[in-house]
Amino acid sequence: MQQIIAANWKMFKNATEARSMISELSKELNGKIPENRKVIIFPPFTVLEASFEAGKEIDGLCIGAQDVFPAQEGAYTGEISPQMVKDCGATWALTGHSERRHVIGESDTLVAQKTSFALASGLDVIVCIGETLEQREAGELYDVLARQLHAALVKLPTPLNPECIVIAYEPVWAIGTGKTASTYDIIEAHAIIREHLKNIIGVSVFETRILYGGSVKPENASEILSLDNVDGLLVGGASLKADSFAKILLA
Ligand code: 13P
Repeated sequence: MQQIIAANWKMFKNATEARSMISELSKELNGKIPENRKVIIFPPFTVLEASFEAGKEIDGLCIGAQDVFPAQEGAYTGEISPQMVKDCGATWALTGHSERRHVIGESDTLVAQKTSFALASGLDVIVCIGETLEQREAGELYDVLARQLHAALVKLPTPLNPECIVIAYEPVWAIGTGKTASTYDIIEAHAIIREHLKNIIGVSVFETRILYGGSVKPENASEILSLDNVDGLLVGGASLKADSFAKILLA
């Protein structure tokens, strides 16, 4: 199975910047993604279509939305539906990113609704989970991961292709801080996630990929990718520049 290397651009880049980053990335990669990798870029909504069009230069590049609302249309001012992002070329969505949980205040219930609605609408989904520093220091790692995972995956559509759902473990204290989780921390958290996924997904659990995110850089990507139960990376800051993102996806 291909490892996933995903770029979360967060609230950065206008259309000109998005096009130029993707065109530079294409040059770095000679227009081709390595066969053992799947690459997904999550731009802001406003540049989804521009990124999709520019991304045609890179064979196999996928585009995703950083969030979706759990309804196809309606009186939901400011929200964007799965069908709308699909119309712009997106085939993936992120749900439950820690910035949405902790800055915007999204609940486990809303994350679950978004996840199941996006999957039922034909998008593949990366669900983000992870503990805060306070929770880790209070010894709550296992409980927080179990709660977020079971809550987010409570209403999966059936039948479900286990490859369409991906979990990203992003410890909140490692996001944008330059503090990467240690290899021990990553192995421990990913093993907990795999154990719970077994109960939720069943026998095909190894077809569900688990990504690590939090201060991933060209210097640490290859070591993290070699760890048990790590099936890819979700990259923030280092995905904004073509040369550093290319180094990570070629690691
Ligand atoms: P950084 O790579 O900037 O720490 O961000 C991680 C992240 O939040 C990806 O979704």
